[in-house]
Amino acid sequence: MTTVPGRSVPKGDTIRHHEVSDAFYRLLLGPTMVCSGGYWEDGEGLTETLDEAQERKLDRFVELAGAAGTRRVLDVGCGWGTMLNRLTVVHGVEQAVGLTPSRTQEQFITGFGNPRISARVESWEDHTTQDLYDAAFCINALEQVVPSVLAPRERAERYRAFFSTVGAVLKPGARFVLHTMTAETLPVNGRLLEDLRFLRRADSPFHAGHIPHLHELAQAADGLFDVIEIVNERESFAVACRAWLHRLAQCRDVAVVLAGEEVVARFERCLGIFAYTLEDKFFNNFRVTIARR
Ligand SMILES: C[S@@+](CC[C@H](N)C(=O)[O-])C[C@H]1O[C@@H](n2cnc3c(N)ncnc32)[C@H](O)[C@@H]1O
Repeated sequence: MTTVPGRSVPKGDTIRHHEVSDAFYRLLLGPTMVCSGGYWEDGEGLTETLDEAQERKLDRFVELAGAAGTRRVLDVGCGWGTMLNRLTVVHGVEQAVGLTPSRTQEQFITGFGNPRISARVESWEDHTTQDLYDAAFCINALEQVVPSVLAPRERAERYRAFFSTVGAVLKPGARFVLHTMTAETLPVNGRLLEDLRFLRRADSPFHAGHIPHLHELAQAADGLFDVIEIVNERESFAVACRAWLHRLAQCRDVAVVLAGEEVVARFERCLGIFAYTLEDKFFNNFRVTIARR
């Protein structure tokens, strides 16, 4: 195994929190298996509309990226492949490629039997291709791709490397649409400090990543991409966290059978922290649309 300083995932390794079974994730996330913010409309029920809200979000992203009907699209941190499938089945994309360091996600995606999609067990820094993409996405994965232990300067280098790597595989003018949480510099109280420490613990479902400041991303993309649009959609992720907590509460007994009490309790705490820190405006969830220069 090769280890490069600053890598978020050792080369050839898979990430730890996906050792929880797909069955558990399906219970938590619902049939769409989307693990990111969704677009709910006023008056819609949290769990009743979870899948619809997620698909609505994915479709809006496709529209913003101009990805419909194109030949080749990349999804960095593709989760369980819902975007890959939707790109090809609903939006007429010829070939959708997803990156994930999780072998179980790759196997799940292969299980769709969709010849137009492929998932690669690869961290973003290892992805190269001569066959450039028409569009790219990274949906609430950027928070996991740079380790939280890095010093600010090393972190800046990693974010720069991230945007350079994605830029290098995109056609000039191609759009890259991101959803990412960012952190505000706000007064931190004791509870928040303790909760942030919990998120960083090795056994937390969210353990590896640094949640960036928006300026870190702006600096990292400067000169490589043109900014088209930046929108703070904090509530899209906060509501998703509440919806997942609600689902978990509804079928907690089954979840405990699938994953054990300790794991379920960790997920509840993690999701609860994300929900209230977004609602209290400590974290944001920015939708960033940029175009490769
Ligand atoms: C919160 S999930 C979001 C997944 C998906 N985009 C979605 O919206 O459902 C974060 C994803 O980032 C992926 N990830 C973590 N580290 C990564 C890395 N170094 N390179 C590429 N993907 C990574 C994980 O496998 C996971 O699929």
